[in-house]
Amino acid sequence: MPAIEVHALTRAFKKGPRAVDGIDLTVDEGEIYGFLGPNGAGKSTTVLMLTTLLPPTSGTALVAGFDVVKDGARVRGAIGAALQEAALDRFLTGWEHVRLQGALHGMSRSDIERRGGELLDRVGMREAASRKVGGYSGGMKRRLDLALALLHRPRVLFLDEPTTGLDPQSRAALWNEVARLSRDEGVTVFLTTQYLEEADALAGRVGIIDHGTIVAEGTPTALKAEIGRASVEIEPHEAARLADLERTLAQFGTAIAAPATGAAIRLDAGVADVAPIVRALDAEGIRIHQLRLREPTLDDVFLEKTGRTLQGSGDSATEGDEA
Ligand SMILES: Nc1ncnc2c1ncn2[C@@H]1O[C@H](COP(=O)(O)OP(=O)(O)OP(=O)(O)O)[C@@H](O)[C@H]1O
Ligand SMILES: [Mg+2]
Repeated sequence: MPAIEVHALTRAFKKGPRAVDGIDLTVDEGEIYGFLGPNGAGKSTTVLMLTTLLPPTSGTALVAGFDVVKDGARVRGAIGAALQEAALDRFLTGWEHVRLQGALHGMSRSDIERRGGELLDRVGMREAASRKVGGYSGGMKRRLDLALALLHRPRVLFLDEPTTGLDPQSRAALWNEVARLSRDEGVTVFLTTQYLEEADALAGRVGIIDHGTIVAEGTPTALKAEIGRASVEIEPHEAARLADLERTLAQFGTAIAAPATGAAIRLDAGVADVAPIVRALDAEGIRIHQLRLREPTLDDVFLEKTGRTLQGSGDSATEGDEA
């Protein structure tokens, strides 16, 4: 049974276009599904419907096997959610939020203390948890919200732009924790983001949403492969070996434009060919001065499907490894 199964899900608001316009998607148990799209694409509206906080206009959605409209209470029991607008009370402490959340889920006091302490430790909030939320930074609120979402051991976790506004360290810590939850605990994660690096780093599969419709879906690797295979650009250590380099590279792909000091090809077999290329050059005694691997990015995918680039997508222009 899939963790999330959505058919023709639609939400129209009275004024304005259809925020979500007939989407279909399936997320398997234990999978991290990245929902990637620019501002106003319909990400939060989808999350609100899947977490039973907003009724769909039409279509169906099953979460943990339960219908979000007919079986809302069961859905809520099975899921955890950290929404874009964290619903925290500035006058309560972190621990007070934990106890309230645990009570709402019918957890015993001892379970709340044990599990709450463990989660506050894991998100680095144990010390701050005795202080009132009003004094927290944005990142601290996000981390407390994540701990609250996990308190009752949900099987399906919804995270709506969990790292927006976080500093790089907090972002990395959250990525680690989300990956660990999926890997070690089999939690299904539905995560929205505007950051293609985030979808790329975390998600097993990505759905790209724009104007309420899913314009592309697949593994990050497959989506990028649709755009084109990776290319490699190599400069030889001795300029005199450039012709030999070109000849050797030609076995692995089609020549493409390169700087005068090097040669480049579009790789027939993608990145898997890099090691054989290095071995072949080594066998020919051609030393490598510089090797650059260029992969298509998810931004290229978005551009291809929509004719626009993703807004606020950070350093999307810089992907490419130097060796
Ligand atoms: N309560 C509402 N009433 C009217 N229109 C709404 C409402 N909520 C969302 N919308 C509209 O629906 C569309 C999708 O909004 P949504 O919040 O789902 O986008 P998003 O992908 O989450 O964007 P962001 O990245 O900015 O959070 C937008 O055009 C938005 O203005
Ligand atoms: Mg949103």
